[in-house]
Amino acid sequence: MKERKYNSREIASKYLEFFKAKDHAIIPSAPLVPEEDSPLLFNIAGMQPLMPYFLGKKHPGGVRIANIQKCLRTIDINEVGDDSHCTFFEMLGNWSLGDYFKKESIYWSWEFLTSHKWLGLDPRLISVTVFEGNNDAPRDNESAKLWGSLGLDYGRIAFMGSDDNWWAVGETGPCGPDTEIFYWINKGLPPVGSNKKTDPENWMEIWNNVFMEFNRLNKTTLERLPKRNVDTGMGLERITVALNRAKNIYQTDLFIDVMEKILSLVTQNKGFYQERSGRIIADHLRAAIHLIGDGVLPSNIGRGYVLRRLIRRAIREAYKMKVEKPIMSELGRIYIKKFKNIYISVDQNQTKILEELQKEEAKFTSTIKKGIIEFEKISRDKNKEGVISGKEVFYLFETFGFPLEMTAELASENNLAIDKKGYEKALADHQEKSRANKTIKFKGGLADRDSKEVISLHTACHLMLAGIRWILGNDIYQAGSNITPDRLRFDFNYPKKLTSQQIKKIEDFVNRKIAMGFSIKKTKESKKAARTRGVMGSFWNKYPDLVQIYKIVDKNGEIVSEEICGGPHVDSSKNMGKFRIIKEESSGSGVRRIKAILQKEKILN
Ligand code: ALA
Repeated sequence: MKERKYNSREIASKYLEFFKAKDHAIIPSAPLVPEEDSPLLFNIAGMQPLMPYFLGKKHPGGVRIANIQKCLRTIDINEVGDDSHCTFFEMLGNWSLGDYFKKESIYWSWEFLTSHKWLGLDPRLISVTVFEGNNDAPRDNESAKLWGSLGLDYGRIAFMGSDDNWWAVGETGPCGPDTEIFYWINKGLPPVGSNKKTDPENWMEIWNNVFMEFNRLNKTTLERLPKRNVDTGMGLERITVALNRAKNIYQTDLFIDVMEKILSLVTQNKGFYQERSGRIIADHLRAAIHLIGDGVLPSNIGRGYVLRRLIRRAIREAYKMKVEKPIMSELGRIYIKKFKNIYISVDQNQTKILEELQKEEAKFTSTIKKGIIEFEKISRDKNKEGVISGKEVFYLFETFGFPLEMTAELASENNLAIDKKGYEKALADHQEKSRANKTIKFKGGLADRDSKEVISLHTACHLMLAGIRWILGNDIYQAGSNITPDRLRFDFNYPKKLTSQQIKKIEDFVNRKIAMGFSIKKTKESKKAARTRGVMGSFWNKYPDLVQIYKIVDKNGEIVSEEICGGPHVDSSKNMGKFRIIKEESSGSGVRRIKAILQKEKILN
């Protein structure tokens, strides 16, 4: 009999159907980039966008929620290429916000996994772990008993410590003990008494149920949350492997067509196929597709740097297999086809995703070959187990676009180390130098006055300053700005860190004005008259006698802002997109710095 193949989308739909039947509201995935003022670069778990609700806020969907959340974790990036680790993954999650607790959570997990109406996994191939207890919380005998009452043999239940069975999203915040579910990945049936503790290599984690009853305030203080919550997460990739009894995630529908395409590209180019390289390309590119879809662009800082690293690492893996022609957008098309009907962020950004991949690939392929030769030259001169200096690492980054991590990888392949601290110093020195240069180059703080993105962000800057003054007071003024096509950066005087509510209010102000629509007019007036009227301006002694003013009037006829400015600005608010503050930080004493972006589409998914 031919074995039935299980499609990942079929599994995802079943999961949502199951929890819908258990009265859960099904919510869309949040973008990969956290919406709230978050210290984290990306959503690393399904619960992360729900943080305020664990802390007590009421969720509009009620007390039972489920979804499929796009997540990205780079912590395991060096494991990618093995059978199960990914950077991007889709997490199936169900949550109780102060409603059901251990019993329902465990019983429903079991029912969904083993019932023939649902996934129908063989219960003999399942084992679990539960929390063994410490000073924070007692041994979780209750969960162990619940598992036992379902017929799970006690030998399949392992008690483990906080390294394995305590889950927290960060160093502070909601957390609690968890019970994890594992699937047997070796042949045949697991021996009697085998579980994650006795036989770690042969059990793959598929689902984690966290009993979130605590809030960590600092290293030593834990308080009880107002209500007991449940947070569960099941990686779609892993459950798909388990259900298909596949050897690895790359043999499932999630990746198989991309892997086949990579193999055929290698063959066409007369290269040497290496499975690990193929897997890394498939994983990293999938992450890149979603990052670009969610508004991240390759750059040398923050989220953009992670994206750049992923794309460049994928390109390097292709080079290792002697594929030296651009292949990323060709492969990207396969993913777009896969995901466009699932995530609106992919559907609405198809062209942008392909263009950004092409651009980044073109940029990097023009230098990678020379960079590798240069690296070889540098490393040839080192003694065995020598160190590549910070300056050399920086040179490879600056001249050939090699991210630090890539040089580290190349170095370790050659038994060399790198001087990371020295690199950071070289980078900081360089940034300091170029900051002065930029002030001269960017007239009025604009990187490119002809770019549509820059112009839209420039208008958003005026709206934002009006919003900041409305929310924080009229004695706020601009202390500097710089706009590139990717983002605006804006400095202003204010003594304290902005709260997330203040940031949200500023965003709402700008988005309200964009949604409502406005007109923007340019006039000229004498400097003196403008100043007396209270027109905004920050560098009065530098302006000529006759100044140019941009006035924004919203559709209610209210003057939103009047600023001395050289322009250019948008003609109308149409197509500006959604305004989002991505960073708020100090920029010297009494000065705050905001970085913000305009997202070109409403992200519904
Ligand atoms: N938040 C839990 C995890 O990511 C479910 O494992």
